[in-house]
Amino acid sequence: MTKVMRSVVTGVGGYLPDEVVTNNDLAQIVDTSDEWIVERTGIRQRHRAGADQPVSDLAVEAAKRALAAAGRSPDDVDLIIVGTTTPDLTFPAVATIVQRKLGCPVGVAFDVQAVCSGFVYALSTADGFVARGRSKCALVIGAETMTRLMDWTDRGTCVLFGDGAGAVVLEPGEGDGSTADRGLLGFALRADGAKQDLLYVDGGVSSNGQIGHLRMQGNQVFRHAVVNISEAVIAAAGDAGIEVADVDWFIPHQANQRILDGVARRLGIDEAKVISTVAEHANTSAASIPLALAKGVEDGRIEPGDVLLMEAMGGGLTWGACVVRL
Ligand code: ACO
Repeated sequence: MTKVMRSVVTGVGGYLPDEVVTNNDLAQIVDTSDEWIVERTGIRQRHRAGADQPVSDLAVEAAKRALAAAGRSPDDVDLIIVGTTTPDLTFPAVATIVQRKLGCPVGVAFDVQAVCSGFVYALSTADGFVARGRSKCALVIGAETMTRLMDWTDRGTCVLFGDGAGAVVLEPGEGDGSTADRGLLGFALRADGAKQDLLYVDGGVSSNGQIGHLRMQGNQVFRHAVVNISEAVIAAAGDAGIEVADVDWFIPHQANQRILDGVARRLGIDEAKVISTVAEHANTSAASIPLALAKGVEDGRIEPGDVLLMEAMGGGLTWGACVVRL
């Protein structure tokens, strides 16, 4: 049997900052209510990073937990990829700041900017290093401080987002090329830049020199989300050589419970197989998938050998899905 190298997830970790902001807290600053937010989104609360907590600090905490779960130390790490759209600084990359703060040796470190799809993009990118023998121990992190991008007078967006980070350790593992292998089995990535106006930040280094605020045509994004995500899920399952029905756990990007339910309905997925953290975490962009994965692993639902399907859509528009056997 031909031997193939796979990128195997050997550790998972998540980190949420201490401060919890409830829907009622937000109703003090914009014209909204707990009832409206819960009914339209499923969100009940979100976490917010402290003013002195840059996104790299959240990423470092998640990375430490993932390394501990993998039985690895920062000395082992030779590749760091961070999916983020809210970096500490314009440069250097959050990944190199994480490398410095963890005390990792000289290696490869860079960020991936695909907004809410950042983790799916980063994991698929890391596969190009790990499965080709170019990395023996990779950290793939999704980390965001989305609350820093909010216009706190816009009730249509500021109620939706939160802060946090999640990380996985990837290591090479030999398989026989079958769907029984542990590791990343397949993925599908998509982008459609023509839909930029639906979801973007109205600031940037080379436009107006501002950080800017998140702008979104929420109902338009919603319309595209269910259709696009469903197509990518089917494509990723096809790339992995499995059926959607073979998946043990769906770990979606946590934007809105109605999007999660809509995708599950369209694909005939049992709701009991969907990990949902949107009520407690809200939308943490690139962090939401690894945070949900960490929750499912910690509470014992997700077990070694399970087939996981992760999917996301975000600004760009970008979207995608990947299949991993844990
Ligand atoms: N509280 C009370 N009322 C609100 C609020 C709020 N927080 N936000 C909007 N409204 C009002 C609007 O002003 C509007 O009022 P009007 O009819 O008087 O003009 C009314 O609610 C309906 O507005 P819609 O935008 O049509 O409401 P919708 O049912 O589409 O829900 C929402 C809005 C929750 C943003 C939804 O469209 C959504 O979740 N879209 C997906 C967006 C998303 O998740 N983006 C994240 C990034 S992309 C991704 O991760 C998939």
